[in-house]
Amino acid sequence: MAETNTFSARTNDPAWMAELERMYDRGTFACLDSLGLHPGLRCLEAGAGGGSVARWLAERVGEVVATDLDVSLVAAGPRLHPRQHDLEHDDLPEGGFDVVHARLLLEHLKDPAAALAKLYAAVRPGGWIVVEDMNWAATHPLPGPGEEIFLAVTSAMRRWLQGTGSHPTLGARLPRLLRGLGATDVGCEGRAHLIEGGTPTAATMVQSLLRRFGPLYVHFGLLTERQVTDGIAWGADPECAGFSALLMATWGRRPPAGTGEGVSDHSGQPEHR
Ligand SMILES: C[S@@+](CC[C@H](N)C(=O)[O-])C[C@H]1O[C@@H](n2cnc3c(N)ncnc32)[C@H](O)[C@@H]1O
Repeated sequence: MAETNTFSARTNDPAWMAELERMYDRGTFACLDSLGLHPGLRCLEAGAGGGSVARWLAERVGEVVATDLDVSLVAAGPRLHPRQHDLEHDDLPEGGFDVVHARLLLEHLKDPAAALAKLYAAVRPGGWIVVEDMNWAATHPLPGPGEEIFLAVTSAMRRWLQGTGSHPTLGARLPRLLRGLGATDVGCEGRAHLIEGGTPTAATMVQSLLRRFGPLYVHFGLLTERQVTDGIAWGADPECAGFSALLMATWGRRPPAGTGEGVSDHSGQPEHR
């Protein structure tokens, strides 16, 4: 399968971005809130997409640089500064931010570990990094009608992601990768959604994906045409339900200056300036 990486990372479709925000913002905001961030911190929102997290940070925390290959969906505001930026190829200021966040970005990049290291280096000593990526190993159907087609479709989606150069289980590796960089106070949590047939989430996450990518899944032998049709029908049937992939939020802190990389003061709180 060609490494096109076309799944969603480089197509900022407003409806798709809105659905991601509807599903994941609540948990992201709770996670960021739990770090006890205080006003006046400088933030980087990488792979900002529709910009909801960047707006939240600008309202609650401080100046925000929101980067993306395509920042057309992020309106500039008094504390919000959209910047076109390619995390794979462009530099970031070393230690330039108190808080760095990236959701559903690293898993789409060729070398997620290298991109994570670049984000980590952009954290000021004592600051926080929060990265969120999927673990597709965790999808499963609810017992009942449509179990088999749910398994077939989610397996095809996962293999498709892998084949196009994405990393569908990256979420589960994030804590280890962050610790390997020297981060302290590392923690993680996984959030899943119950996708129920007949709901807007099933329409976006199952039906529209199958309509868009189904012909490619068939072309590459991941699903039959019949399975694509059955999968679309699954998304409309209120009797069918299954758990989405887990979005693994992982956070860690760059050790404050003077403590040495990898040595935690275990305070669990960001350093106040
Ligand atoms: C799946 S979307 C997630 C958007 C947003 N973070 C969210 O969770 O709602 C992935 C985003 O990463 C951006 N992106 C992909 N490759 C990138 C790169 N190399 N550098 C910066 N942004 C990139 C895409 O343009 C897109 O906005």
